[in-house]
Amino acid sequence: MTGEELVTRAEAAAANAYAPYSNYLVGATVLLKDGRSFDGVNVENAAYPLGICAEKTAISKAASEGVRPGDVDAIGITASPCGGCRQWLHEWRIERVYFRLENGSIAEYAPASKLLPDTWNLP
Ligand code: THU
Repeated sequence: MTGEELVTRAEAAAANAYAPYSNYLVGATVLLKDGRSFDGVNVENAAYPLGICAEKTAISKAASEGVRPGDVDAIGITASPCGGCRQWLHEWRIERVYFRLENGSIAEYAPASKLLPDTWNLP
């Protein structure tokens, strides 16, 4: 799948977001090297900090099926990933990251570590 296709798919998935507090619907689609894919959405909570981002939902769905860092080819996201999600994208060694910019174009970062310069790692 191209970056455009991944982001378009994430935009369709965003319709399932549970975001009654922010009304900001986010979707993310993870594409594995074996061709499988997983959609995720943001899931909010009345205790605001307990909500989860779309990227983390998509990666967690994949992880629950046995997927591990190195297995993920790409991710498409409806918007720019937050700092915490950038750390997740790096942890999962995602090779291609695409997201929709406010001007409508698609940003590409490959690999995910480009989104987190001089990234912290366990010593
Ligand atoms: N959100 C995501 O799902 N991913 C991000 O990378 C940034 C923010 C969600 C969290 C919250 O539900 C909503 O967007 C507004 O911040």
